[in-house]
Amino acid sequence: MPPLSLVDLQPSAGSFLEDVLSGLGASPKALSPKYFYDARGSRLFEAICELPEYYPTRTELALTRDCAGEIAAAAGAGSLLIEFGSGAGIKTGLLLRALRPAAYVPVDISMDALKDSAGRLASEFPELPVIAVCADYMQPLDLPLEGIAAPRLIYFPGSTIGNLTPAEALVFLQRARALAGSGGAMLVGVDLKKDPQRLHEAYNDAQGVTAEFNLNLLRRINRELAADFDLDRFRHIAFYNAVAGRIEMHLESTCAQTVTVSGRSFAFAAGERLHTENSCKYSVAEFRRLAQSAGYRAEAVWVDAEELFSLHLLRG
Ligand code: AVJ
Repeated sequence: MPPLSLVDLQPSAGSFLEDVLSGLGASPKALSPKYFYDARGSRLFEAICELPEYYPTRTELALTRDCAGEIAAAAGAGSLLIEFGSGAGIKTGLLLRALRPAAYVPVDISMDALKDSAGRLASEFPELPVIAVCADYMQPLDLPLEGIAAPRLIYFPGSTIGNLTPAEALVFLQRARALAGSGGAMLVGVDLKKDPQRLHEAYNDAQGVTAEFNLNLLRRINRELAADFDLDRFRHIAFYNAVAGRIEMHLESTCAQTVTVSGRSFAFAAGERLHTENSCKYSVAEFRRLAQSAGYRAEAVWVDAEELFSLHLLRG
């Protein structure tokens, strides 16, 4: 049997209602994109990753495959690999094969996703100690890894860092640097700035999967928080905000209406928007500057031939 252990740091589960009530009460109205990922939302996101317009997933995968040897050489073999996110993808397998880490520590907020992917990887790499940790890696983390002396490499793929504003990302990177410790490093996937039309299409796909993904948040609130959003009275909006350098997703109310959530009422004006996601894009130089402000040395960067996506190796 592969050495697989599960640690539950019990990420606060009771905050969904609180966050929705305060987000709908705010002006402008806003919700955190972390709530997209119920079971249906996770399936819709997987479908997004397969869309012809959504280039990041396949580009990052090909980049990782093409550069795995170089990445492993630069990052250093035998490290303790900590992954933010459950590592469900093929990318992690590629990296594990090249890196041969001393141990692998996937961290994910969803116990189900964690068990699934950690179990799969543990049986694929029978020699590899796997310590799966259920926790919210966006919050300060105290991992139970005292016994393991290997230098730490934090792996944060998928451009999930784009969900944070640059100011939030700075705080996040500083905390990750402290967690990696002395001799530690971070390998982070970052979506690049590019032709706004290309970005627009990636978040406004022809099949409407991204629209479904966005609207699913309201479906989830209806089901889990006793709400009565009429999904036919909201529409998906996604656009590139060039000033902020980010894709923004919103749900726009198509008429004046009142919505009830767990007995509390919220008025929407016609055309009023609920902000559901930021997806920040960085040039290589911009992300390097951000990482340096967080105290890192930008050691290496890998970019695909089309210059769509980047993988940065940062040294703490
Ligand atoms: C998972 C945050 C990287 O920002 O592209 C995809 C989420 N939203 N389509 C992204 C997403 C709409 C995705 N991240």
